[in-house]
Amino acid sequence: MCGIVGYIGDKQVQSVLLSLLGRLEYRGYDSCGIAVAGSSLKVYKDVVRVAALTEKAPQLGGTAGIGHTRWATCGEPSQVNAHPHCDCAGNIAVVHNGVINNFQSLRQQLISEGHTFISETDTEVIPHLIEKYYDGNLEKAVEAALRDVEGSYAIVVLTADESKLVVARKDSPLIIGIGDRENFIASDVPAILDFTNRVIYLEDGDIGIVTKDNIKIVSDGTEVDREEHKILWNVEEAQKGGYDHFMLKEIHEQPRVIRDTLVEYTQTAEPVVDLERMRDEGIESVLILACGTSYYAALVGKYIMEELVGVPVRVEIASEFSYYGQTLVRTLAIVITQSGETADTLKAIRRLKGVRCRVVAITNVVGSSASRVADQTIYTRAGPEISVAATKSFTAQLMVLYWIAMGYSKADARRLASMLLGLRQLPSKVQRVLDNGDIILQCARYLSKYENVFFIGRGINFPVALEGALKLKEISYIHAEGYAAGELKHGPFALLGENIPVIAIVAQDNTYEAMLTNIKEVKVRKSPVMALAEEGDETIRELADFVITVPRVEVIFSPVVNTVTLQLLAYYTAKERGCPIDFPRNLAKSVTVE
Ligand code: AGP
Repeated sequence: MCGIVGYIGDKQVQSVLLSLLGRLEYRGYDSCGIAVAGSSLKVYKDVVRVAALTEKAPQLGGTAGIGHTRWATCGEPSQVNAHPHCDCAGNIAVVHNGVINNFQSLRQQLISEGHTFISETDTEVIPHLIEKYYDGNLEKAVEAALRDVEGSYAIVVLTADESKLVVARKDSPLIIGIGDRENFIASDVPAILDFTNRVIYLEDGDIGIVTKDNIKIVSDGTEVDREEHKILWNVEEAQKGGYDHFMLKEIHEQPRVIRDTLVEYTQTAEPVVDLERMRDEGIESVLILACGTSYYAALVGKYIMEELVGVPVRVEIASEFSYYGQTLVRTLAIVITQSGETADTLKAIRRLKGVRCRVVAITNVVGSSASRVADQTIYTRAGPEISVAATKSFTAQLMVLYWIAMGYSKADARRLASMLLGLRQLPSKVQRVLDNGDIILQCARYLSKYENVFFIGRGINFPVALEGALKLKEISYIHAEGYAAGELKHGPFALLGENIPVIAIVAQDNTYEAMLTNIKEVKVRKSPVMALAEEGDETIRELADFVITVPRVEVIFSPVVNTVTLQLLAYYTAKERGCPIDFPRNLAKSVTVE
């Protein structure tokens, strides 16, 4: 998820472009660049934030230009991989948001036709394809180029010769901001609100030809009309997509995140981690290391992999492993880190490398330190996560762990097929959780009055109890503890009573009866019980004070719907308590110190 912009009008374009980009950094901020059209095409780009580029960039002049702020997916953050990208002659510049799936084959084809590539990106094929088809009509060349492209894109195309911008979109957002004798292009509304609130949303397959006085949109070669909308949001509201906080926005992005991460991996026939080869190399066990929420994803990963692959999986807290970690023999190490910059996890990686252990990193940030030191990196496709509380990154990490395990499952084809179906149904199941806000809000109002809360779960939902407690702790400042339900009677029972609600995660698996017993034991000790239970479970209604129903899924997928439910519960509870949800006290999104 990157931010792309364009401007054509009478204003000096450079400051307009940098202002538009500054408003889109929540979409990606690892590098940025601009291109302006004057006597020739001038490009300036670097591995810096927009504010720094504003300082560093020479005055390029011109009244038409394009810009980009990047969230690297293909090719690490670097000056050459930053956008805009150009054709061989430097006459055509393109900024792009999306993923070109067939870029490798297009690149080979274009190289065989004499084109030279300088970056590692998928995007660079676009200006070269436009150059290939250009015969004096830019929009025709863009149309032809996009016929060759497979994948998602929103692009803005600029040339030195033609006083227009050509834009197009498919599966990535793109808007046109309408001004007075000027027009603006952007990935999203926040960018243009300082200049105008009149907006046209392009639809998939649209190609727009934009000059300072005119906007023409064609679809399948026919000119079409697209409705103009008046935006009533202010910039901050728009950056959050109309949600009150980035956390709520990111929670609601999860159906897309699941789809994107699955699309990424279901397209490659190759398993993401070649366990077979590793078996040949004598790998006999798996060690997963992480911190915080990523550690809880690792714990769920243990259940997934042990059930499907049958290899012993050990999960360690990275900050502990660095100091006492036992010697590792014939072990594959997987480290999970959203930011890729967590000092405790990086130190553990260095320790693993020190004993020549093969390290696979699962991270959300391309080019992050973890991706540099690991032997292999698997990227989650959650996009930038702004809120300190990790939500969508957790779910994306689980998707990768499902995929690793399915790549090597001993399960028969029928089981794998039902799992694949289950994975493909997850986005709509999660959407149903998101649409079930009322009961969660009601429970949050109740919970917000308490200062201590316990979460209990069993089996694959024990780590979910831990994650639910962490989410509530870090954003609502309520002291919350997660427990394996069977552990309460070994001590924590002493604390139970009217002032400590217990949130029980009740899955329809072999732990169901034991969970009911634990709930009865908690009720006997006067603690109010809030249960997460599968739709259709009437028994639980007789026991619990509150029941939040979750959609029916295979037990192995229940951590996804249960965790999203607990993310919402924590969010609404913190909101009831008036907490600064996106940036809680004493915490940082990426903990780069030990
Ligand atoms: C989770 O909401 C917290 N932000 C924190 O526990 C986080 O998960 C932990 O710091 C690990 O971060 P990482 O995944 O970027 O390594």
